[in-house]
Amino acid sequence: MTILGIETSCDETAAAVVRDGYEVLSSVIHTQIALHAPHGGVVPEIASRSHLEMAPRVIRKAVEDAGLPFSAIDAVAVTYGPGLASSLLVGLSAAKGLAAALGKPLIGINHIHAHIQSAFLAPGSPRLADALPLLALVVSGGHSIVAEIRRDGVPRVLGQTLDDAAGEAFDKASKLLGLGYPGGPAIQKAAERATDFASIHFPQGRISPDNPALGSLDSELCFSFSGLKTSLRTYLARHPVGGDEDVANIAAAYQAAIVDALASRVKKALLHRRYRGFAVGGGVSLNAALRAKLTEVAVRAGVPIYLPLPKYCGDNAAMIASLAGTGVGVSGDAAMALDVVPGLGFA
Ligand code: KG4
Ligand code: ZN
Repeated sequence: MTILGIETSCDETAAAVVRDGYEVLSSVIHTQIALHAPHGGVVPEIASRSHLEMAPRVIRKAVEDAGLPFSAIDAVAVTYGPGLASSLLVGLSAAKGLAAALGKPLIGINHIHAHIQSAFLAPGSPRLADALPLLALVVSGGHSIVAEIRRDGVPRVLGQTLDDAAGEAFDKASKLLGLGYPGGPAIQKAAERATDFASIHFPQGRISPDNPALGSLDSELCFSFSGLKTSLRTYLARHPVGGDEDVANIAAAYQAAIVDALASRVKKALLHRRYRGFAVGGGVSLNAALRAKLTEVAVRAGVPIYLPLPKYCGDNAAMIASLAGTGVGVSGDAAMALDVVPGLGFA
């Protein structure tokens, strides 16, 4: 099965061709970072307009790079949620049109599930199906989710953020520190120059078990990052930044607070049941301090960790085509009838 994947849920226009679920023949990612950077965050109208302009080129290049004619594509897979409605619509419409024109099936894919799949595209890693039951952490600009996939292959949410996502926490702090957008890489870079941050403490955002927003989720597996940003603002008001060294130390302390919050939930979740693997995905999984800390937690728990290659941490279409190639997704007549679902969760 050779699948063309299309991804336009946020600010990357991506297309990829993947054979039999795991053999990536091509992966093209056009990022819109330069378009959104002047605004300090993703502007939905700019995003969808850019997807509309770039999608045809990106799709054509993915098929060309795979060295195949369009007629060799067996199915078209596309993200239908979660994400920005107007951006998702561009990819879904393009995929429907292409599938109809080629006379090939369409497969609708959940973006978060695909981020979990991305961890299994690294050379030497097993297939996702061979790592079940699996614990997963998806951390991006829009999501912070702890999920598990049991032997039935169905992802279920164990915990999530009740307010800001981890990536958002990086982006907002970067803005406050004047380090620009996107914030994650900027904070990481500044933190690498830290000299001493032992005296700077930011809270981990504990959640009361009585919080009504929890629903049926375990408070100890959920996150809250909005207080972290507020504590940074308060800190900056009380401790005027003297220079680059101060910025580096504050960035390192802030990064450590996010990393510790994520790692402590994972540590707790790994006690939940006997997992055969732990997978990480999403733009924030590019963070070196987070990768190191999560590896330490997994090694201590005796559970193999699967981290995506850097090129598959952020949004990409290889993860979309890969997941579709393992038989996951909305298919048949239901796929052609799909509408975008901006708030799509796990069933
Ligand atoms: O998965 P992604 O590309 O897009 C979404 O679906 O949101 O994630 C983007 C997020 C941004 O918030 C960005 O600041 C964060 O990932 N990010 C990082 C790093 N690189 C990107 N966060 C921490 N450290 C990094 N090195
Ligand atoms: Zn994403």
